[in-house]
Amino acid sequence: LASIEVNVAALQPGMSLTVKWRGKPVFIRNRTPKEIEEANAVALSDLKDPVARNANIAADAEATGVDRSAGEGKENWIVMIGSCTHLGCVPLGQSGDFGGWFCPCHGSHYDTAGRIRKGPAPQNLAIPTFAFASDTVIRIG
Ligand code: FES
Repeated sequence: LASIEVNVAALQPGMSLTVKWRGKPVFIRNRTPKEIEEANAVALSDLKDPVARNANIAADAEATGVDRSAGEGKENWIVMIGSCTHLGCVPLGQSGDFGGWFCPCHGSHYDTAGRIRKGPAPQNLAIPTFAFASDTVIRIG
């Protein structure tokens, strides 16, 4: 299946769900204001991978809080491929030293924008092609 549609109407801030797309888990999270703030407060110079890795914007876009999200006005939404950029394990949500995701395989810590902050993973979690098909439906792919 090339693309899937996911209804996110029931996802309140602080809730996540994982869907499968092209055989991989995709994490969808409705971030809390605190999580958004924490991500926005990080200096780009503190990032191990300063590139957004967001298939929806320029390949060289910086990994700002907004460019890692669904964009202006939808910064609460984050959609990422749930495959650790080290060796592909599935990271755990709301875990790790930065309140985002933690990969238990070899200890990679991702922040609330899915950016690698500590551990062996080389890149931020990848953001697939996606768009809001309506206010409550996200199309992935
Ligand atoms: Fe995630 Fe190695 S696969 S840290």
